[in-house]
Amino acid sequence: MVYVSQHPLVRTKLTLLRNQHTTPKIFRELVGEISQFLMYEATSDLPLQPATVQTPLAHYHGYELQVQIGLIPILRAGLGMVDPILDMIPTAHVWHLGLYRDHETLQPVSYYNKLPSQVDVDICLVLDPMLATGGSASAAITVLKRWGVQRIKFLGLIAAPEGVAQVQHDHPDVDLHLAAIDERLNDIGYIVPGLGDAGDRQFGTH
Ligand code: PRP
Ligand code: URA
Repeated sequence: MVYVSQHPLVRTKLTLLRNQHTTPKIFRELVGEISQFLMYEATSDLPLQPATVQTPLAHYHGYELQVQIGLIPILRAGLGMVDPILDMIPTAHVWHLGLYRDHETLQPVSYYNKLPSQVDVDICLVLDPMLATGGSASAAITVLKRWGVQRIKFLGLIAAPEGVAQVQHDHPDVDLHLAAIDERLNDIGYIVPGLGDAGDRQFGTH
């Protein structure tokens, strides 16, 4: 399934994010804030188990998460989504995957992989602001499945229709949680209208 957030604050923050005059500092803050909204929506079906605490007055029969969550940022641009989500889910584990897109072929190239020796999470949230051709997201999901992860969701800020179709074709079991689906890719594989290069805009590179 593909979920596109309709939250008014996501839509206004995404407009600021796209603005070419937004500075890296504000850009990073917006990436984090929008990621928290996407995470909130993507985790609304997490299973709970009973947990009892003692308030100053009485026992309270409440809840705790039944599942262990893994956050999988795709380097580099996915890094900006990690800490704001960890603030909300402090028990999550973080597995880093380094992939970059070859500028000529647009194919993903793997350069770093820090997965644990054993799968110790129940649900993985793959984090990458941009889903363009879908090659990077699809490759990351394939790596996780080969590792033995059973349940995967993808969280992204802006997607192209081509990338959504690619990931749905390759991994129909993976839900996509997005802030927007834009018009198209241009002839060098950038999302239009998009926001430019999400890694460069976060980290001040060109
Ligand atoms: C960007 C983005 C995705 C990828 C999307 O990363 O963060 O990982 O491109 O493109 P795709 O859907 O066509 O694969 P990039 O390769 O620019 O690397 P960076 O994050 O290190 O800048
Ligand atoms: N990666 C980006 O950072 N932006 C795009 O538009 C496409 C891929």
